[in-house]
Amino acid sequence: MTTETPMAGTIRVGLVGYGKAGRAVANVLSDDPRFDLRWIARRQASASQTHDDTGIPVIGLGQRPFAELFENAPVDALVDFSSRESLYAYGEEVGRRGIALVSAISAYSEEDLEYARRLGKSTRVLCSPNITLGINFLIIAARLLRGVAPFADVEILEQHFKGKPEVSGTARKIAETLEVDGGSITSLRLGGIVGHHEVIFGFPHQTVRLTHESIRREAFGTGAAFALSHLAGCDKGFYTFDDLLLRLMRAELMVGQ
Ligand SMILES: NC(=O)c1ccc[n+]([C@@H]2O[C@H](COP(=O)([O-])OP(=O)(O)OC[C@H]3O[C@@H](n4cnc5c(N)ncnc54)[C@H](OP(=O)(O)O)[C@@H]3O)[C@@H](O)[C@H]2O)c1
Repeated sequence: MTTETPMAGTIRVGLVGYGKAGRAVANVLSDDPRFDLRWIARRQASASQTHDDTGIPVIGLGQRPFAELFENAPVDALVDFSSRESLYAYGEEVGRRGIALVSAISAYSEEDLEYARRLGKSTRVLCSPNITLGINFLIIAARLLRGVAPFADVEILEQHFKGKPEVSGTARKIAETLEVDGGSITSLRLGGIVGHHEVIFGFPHQTVRLTHESIRREAFGTGAAFALSHLAGCDKGFYTFDDLLLRLMRAELMVGQ
């Protein structure tokens, strides 16, 4: 690890979590010239993998405090794809140093979220249990259509790989946002489908289908990159992915008004 000055304009990033999602996120961030992915932290070091495929150090935290990591290899932002416990391991240091945080952890409790909101008083914090740009856009679009056509029937279809036991959390979030009953969700489990969500609006003489298809886990990296770049232009505070996306959409809609 080096402590050289970052390239002008690049955001120095540390990534926590090097599992199924973290690996894909690392691929995207290390490929994007807007970011300087400086290190990847995981729970335990692996003797066989001290660097990722592009040469970025993969560090086992073990008993090592985050303060030491931040001191040796400073970053401007932290991206978390590990587990809910990590928040408490780095929270204080992130707040003290003003490091921006993009957390994709899906399983935060209300207490965890309260802690993250408090961190937002010291730095920029974004928490998103659904970090793909496409799904967040679909939810906003569905919400808009529901608002202008509350009379339309709504059904939600989700399809995933054979082994996924539970109803998709994203489908439940869509149902909650549209204020439709959970019974309106149909789940299909077949083959190796990564993730398919469809909101179907049934009008008397027409049908509108909003569909999102996940192709690869790299989509989480694209979402994290979107969050990092837009969070960089925000004041300190607590944000959701919606907050950033809505701000951008409002600006787009105002063009030419
Ligand atoms: N928001 C979204 O759209 C989205 C999408 C995908 C995943 N996620 C979230 O991302 C997280 C990881 O998912 P995954 O499927 O990649 O899981 P995974 O394959 O089990 O990987 C978890 C990774 O996190 C590391 N880790 C766990 N606890 C840690 C800790 N306390 N400190 C440091 N590193 C720790 C593990 O370290 P070791 O390798 O040493 O075990 C591992 O590298 C989950 O919370 C999931 O909800 C969110």
